[in-house]
Amino acid sequence: MVWIGSVLLSAMVMLVTYLVPPAEIAVTSDSPPGFLLLWTRYSAHLAFVFLLLAFSASTLKVVVNNAQTRGLVRYRRQLGLGFATAHTFHLVALILFLSNLEGYSVDASIAVAGFGYVVTALLALTSNDYSVRRLGPAKWKQLHTAGVSILMLYFFVAFSGRLLTNFAPIYAVYVALIATAVVAKLRVKRRTMTAATD
Ligand code: HEM
Repeated sequence: MVWIGSVLLSAMVMLVTYLVPPAEIAVTSDSPPGFLLLWTRYSAHLAFVFLLLAFSASTLKVVVNNAQTRGLVRYRRQLGLGFATAHTFHLVALILFLSNLEGYSVDASIAVAGFGYVVTALLALTSNDYSVRRLGPAKWKQLHTAGVSILMLYFFVAFSGRLLTNFAPIYAVYVALIATAVVAKLRVKRRTMTAATD
């Protein structure tokens, strides 16, 4: 259900970014932004929301234990797959955008950004009970904690960069949300470890 939601929301982002730019702006335009650039941008924003929810689910449940936070934890795997789906739309959008961008040439930065997709694929492919049994719960958890943290770092770098180059309140909100989610997770972890040793 959550996963189907990610497909529908991704399709909605595509439709809205197609309809919003005025007709005289070419779909391939980068300035002013046309459909393909807006789709690339906002598909990434949607993917971020899924990743943030998956990353924060267990922390939120410790902080506020109610039906909503328990639901987030129950559907965490689906939220992760929702992220992978929305991020695949980002990949399709950016391939279409960059392949139509005049003067674009592949450079080393693509390897760094591409590694994020390797991590995403690894997490999506191991988001099933078979992989938990194969790797063992401890190793599986390590892999997923490390993978999701790396992806959060990618978003932190992307949004901080945009905040510095093109101040818009939404980027400040995203950066603050990431910082809060990370600090809260670390605090909850420390509290749990202290309680275990007491
Ligand atoms: C894990 C991998 C990736 C993450 C987390 C990520 C994240 C993001 C985010 C957050 C944005 C939105 C920034 C904004 O609002 O302006 C964005 C936009 C974009 N991304 Fe990605 N991205 C990834 C991979 C890639 C790759 C491999 C490329 C290809 C070179 C790429 C190309 C772009 C482009 C062209 C934009 C639009 C930039 C603009 O608005 O001017 N991304 N990405």
